[in-house]
Amino acid sequence: MHMVDIIRKKRGGGELTDAEIDAVVHGCVSGEIPDYQLSALMMAICFQGMTKRETARLTLAMAHSGDMVDLSAVGGITVDKHSTGGVGDKTSLVIVPIAAAYGVKIAKMSGRGLGHTGGTVDKMESIPGMRTALSREEFLAVVRRVGCAVIGQSGDLCPADKKLYALRDVTATVESIPLIASSIMSKKIAAGSDRILLDVKAGSGAFMKTKDDAEALAREMVEIGASVGRKTVALITNMDRPLGRAIGNALEIIEVCETLKGRGPADLTAECVELAANMIYLGERAENMKTARMLAKDAIESGAAFQKLCEMVEAQGGDADYLRDTSRFTLGHVQQDVLCPADGFITRADAEQIGRASVLLGAGRETKDSAIDFGAGIILHKNAGDAVKRGDVLATLYADGETRCEEAAPKLLQAFSFGAEPPKPEPLVLARV
Ligand code: URA
Repeated sequence: MHMVDIIRKKRGGGELTDAEIDAVVHGCVSGEIPDYQLSALMMAICFQGMTKRETARLTLAMAHSGDMVDLSAVGGITVDKHSTGGVGDKTSLVIVPIAAAYGVKIAKMSGRGLGHTGGTVDKMESIPGMRTALSREEFLAVVRRVGCAVIGQSGDLCPADKKLYALRDVTATVESIPLIASSIMSKKIAAGSDRILLDVKAGSGAFMKTKDDAEALAREMVEIGASVGRKTVALITNMDRPLGRAIGNALEIIEVCETLKGRGPADLTAECVELAANMIYLGERAENMKTARMLAKDAIESGAAFQKLCEMVEAQGGDADYLRDTSRFTLGHVQQDVLCPADGFITRADAEQIGRASVLLGAGRETKDSAIDFGAGIILHKNAGDAVKRGDVLATLYADGETRCEEAAPKLLQAFSFGAEPPKPEPLVLARV
């Protein structure tokens, strides 16, 4: 089988056979297929798409390209959660302890931030002592004892995706529904959970800019999950504006704690209740979604979910006293307010541009290997839809130096638009698939 024939076939809109897809994945991991041929095939897929059968086969071949995690020793129904990535998206660290407080078992492997989007692993590492690289045995022991653990992707999980994703990132071939669906679902299948909750973001700060595209991606992933016996549910959520008020690692952990203490921003709290309720329902800890929502709210009000977060952090070596007293976190020593330039309403708070401003402050990385500043970031005092007056504080920037703030402030301002009328309110959850 010649790679050049496979590329030509896909370029012409042909349907690849199972044997051809398996050969591509095998050659990708073994190194027999050079990067330029893999990249050319990815580009052909971007233009020509894949049938559902091809996407499902690619997903399975990638899932089986490395370790398959066995979670049977954990006991009970295991539920995983994945977000397609956004700005200010700290939902995992709120909903995992909520669902675990009711006995849902969660063994979650999360990613780091890249570009304008943040990553759960980076946020967790802003808690002093927190270990996100546990051996497989330690990971499973924490899940058995506490009910949940969140670590970075460990072992040899989906090496084919690791290779292809890195190539896609630098060849403008990320934005393809079959490629994103197979990339995400291969990792979820290999990670071993029985059930999967997907948070598919739609809007300016997301890979999928429209609700229709996000729904098509969600449908594809839900069908792949069902085809391998992993019940999968997807929520399409709004990522036109940042979620909550905090963007940046330690700042977001503080907001996670505030939310679990019942004092979080309304948008973040509402979205987390909906996501956590779906996890509780998928884990069969509630008979219907109405009860699941009530349980999710109760876990916040009773303090049970915050207690569970502290237990998980301690079990992974972190100092939970920082969560109990969040004033202990070290934040950027330069703090600069950005003032509102107009009267009226905020008609747009562009999530992608705000995410890019936070990267300039040091909260994210431009390349996979750059260091991040855990104390850097942005607190938004105003968000889309809010009424404002000229001179109001729109946001506070946190960084380790004035130059960074001076660079980020104009970028942040560009993310906002103002008008005389408020924008039409957008629901937080746009659809459930
Ligand atoms: N996240 C992934 O894991 N893969 C993609 O292709 C896009 C987002």
